[in-house]
Amino acid sequence: RMRTLESKLSGKTSEETKSLRSWQWLRRTDDPGMSALYMDRYLNFGLTEEELSSHKPIIGIAQSGSDLAPCNRYHLTLAKRVREGIRSAGGIAIEFPTHPIQESSRRPTATLDRNLSYLGLVELLHAYPFDGVVLLTGCDKTTPACLMAAATLDIPAICLNVGPMLNGYSRKDRIGSGTVLWKAREMHAAGEIDDAELLNMVTRGTPSAGHCNTMGTASTMNALAEALGMALPGSAAIPAPYRERPQVAYKTGMQIVEMVYADRKPSDIMTRQAFENALAANTAIGGSTNAPIHLNAVARHMGVPLNLDDWEQIGFHIPLLVNVQPAGKMLCEEYYRAGGLPAVMAELLDQGKLHGSALTCNGKTVKDNVQGKHSWDRETIKAYEQPMMPDAGFLHMTGNLFDSAIMKTSVISDEFRKAFLESPSNPNVFESKVAVFDGPEDYHKRIETADIDERTILVMRGTGPIGYPGAAEVVNMTAPGHLLKKGLKYSLPCIGDGRQSGTSGSPSILNASPEAAENGNLAILKDGDMLRVDLNKRKVEMLVSEEEIKSRRATLMEAGGYSLVESQTPYQDLFRRETGPLSEGMVWKRATRFQ
Ligand code: FES
Ligand code: MG
Repeated sequence: RMRTLESKLSGKTSEETKSLRSWQWLRRTDDPGMSALYMDRYLNFGLTEEELSSHKPIIGIAQSGSDLAPCNRYHLTLAKRVREGIRSAGGIAIEFPTHPIQESSRRPTATLDRNLSYLGLVELLHAYPFDGVVLLTGCDKTTPACLMAAATLDIPAICLNVGPMLNGYSRKDRIGSGTVLWKAREMHAAGEIDDAELLNMVTRGTPSAGHCNTMGTASTMNALAEALGMALPGSAAIPAPYRERPQVAYKTGMQIVEMVYADRKPSDIMTRQAFENALAANTAIGGSTNAPIHLNAVARHMGVPLNLDDWEQIGFHIPLLVNVQPAGKMLCEEYYRAGGLPAVMAELLDQGKLHGSALTCNGKTVKDNVQGKHSWDRETIKAYEQPMMPDAGFLHMTGNLFDSAIMKTSVISDEFRKAFLESPSNPNVFESKVAVFDGPEDYHKRIETADIDERTILVMRGTGPIGYPGAAEVVNMTAPGHLLKKGLKYSLPCIGDGRQSGTSGSPSILNASPEAAENGNLAILKDGDMLRVDLNKRKVEMLVSEEEIKSRRATLMEAGGYSLVESQTPYQDLFRRETGPLSEGMVWKRATRFQ
C-alpha cells in the first residue's frame, strides 16, 4: 500500500484513495444524499473541491491544550504549525478538543480523567471520518490517554509533545517544577521558610510555557511515547519555547500524512518489542513510577501482554544514565541539549538492550533513528559504563500485605541506605513499625501527633483507584516537623495503595494492589504493627500472626469492609465500578474487549 506523495498530490483517484476511511465515508456512491449531509457543515470552512475532489486524507488534530490545561496550552499555537505540515503534505486538518487533564489542580486527582479523556477520544476517532490523527500530548496523563486511544482505534497516529518548560532558577540553583515542592514543604515544616517564601520558591520552578521541566511523569511519558516509536525521534525533550518545537510540529504534520498513505498503524509500531524498548528506556532516564501504570494500560489496549514482572525483568538491571531531577541534578533544558532520548537510546542500543529493528512512526527502525547519537555532555547523559547508578529500575514487590506493588530504587539516597539498608548481617532488609493513615486528610490531621520516629514506615491507604477515585498521588509523605527540625537527612519510607508524583524523590512502595478499598490486607494494618521489607526477596511482610490476620479480617468484613468516602459525581461512581487495579493499568475492565 506504499504510495508516493507526488502521485497522491496529482489528485487522481486511485484504489488507495478509495480505501481511505474518509473517502468511503464522505463519497458514498450508493447514497450521495448522505455524502451531502455529512459534508454540509464542514463546508462552512472548506471547499467541496478541497474536501472531496482532490481526495485528500483527513487528519485529526486532537487538541489537549486550553486555559484549563496550562501545561498543554502552548499546543493552541503549535497546532497551527501541525496544520501547515498536514497541508503541505496534501492532507486536510480538522482540529478538535479532547477532555482536558491538568495534573496540578484537578480534584480529587488528574488520573481520574485519564480514562475519561481516553473514552472521549476513542468515540471521536471512531465516530468521525479521520484517516489519521496527531495527538497533542504533554502534561502527565494526556500522553497515556492519547496512546490508549490510538491503540484501541488502531488508525495511523503520531504524538507531538508540547515540550518541557525552561529551567527554573533561584540565583544559580536549578529549581525543578514539582520536585521543588517536596523540598519546600520540608523546609516549611522545619520552620526554615514562611508561607510567602514557600509560594515564591515553588512558582520560580515554572518559568515558561510547557510541562514540568523535571523527569516527572510528563517528561517520562513523552520520552516513552518516543521510545515506543509513536513520536518523531528527538522530539519529546525539546523545550516548549525553543525554535525547534514549532519546527517539529510542522514535521509531525507532514509525517502523519505519509503514515496514512503507508497505512502505518499503532499495531505496526507498538509491538511487544517496542514496549520492551520503552521499559529499558524508562530506567535509563529515571522515569516516573506512574509509567508502569500507564504503559501497562496502553499495552492492554494494544493487546500486547505486559505486566509488572516484565518491568522488573527487563528494566531493573538497566543503569540510570540521565542526571535530571528528581534522581539527579539537571533539568530538561540540559537534557535536551545533551541529546535527549536518542542519546540515551544510543547507549542502550550499543549494549544490546534495545530491539533495534522495531519500526517507528517515520518508517525507520529504532536503530536507524538513534545509532551513533551519543551525548557530548557526559555530565547530563552518562555513558552506559559510567552510570549515575547501576540497577536503577523498579522492583516488583509482593507479600502478605498486598499481592503487587512497585518500588523505584533510583531515588534511594546514601543517607537512607545508611539508616535502613546497611545492617551488616542482613543488607537490603529492614524491620520497622508503621504509622497508618487513611487518606491524605487523615495524614495532614495526625502527622505531627502520631507516634513516629526516624525509623518509622509511613503507610497511606484508602488512596487506590476505588478508595480515592482515580488513585491519589499522595504516597510520598513528609516526615513530621519535630524530626525535620532535628535534622533528619532522608525521607521516611512510604508504602501505600495510591500513587506517587513522578517528581518526588522519596523511597516508596507504591500502587499496592489489592487496595484497602477492596479489603486487601492494607485495610487491617494497625499503627505500631511491624513490617519486614526485604529488597533481595522483593517481599513486604506484616509481622502479624496468621490467627491475628484472620481475626482482623473477620472483624473488618463484619463491619461491612473498609469504609469508603462517597462519590462526589456520577463519573466518579462509574469509574469506581468499572475500573481495574493499578497493577493492571487501571483500565476500564470491559473496554479491553475492544482493545
Ligand atoms: Fe502538568 Fe507537571 S503539572 S506536567
Ligand atoms: Mg505528577
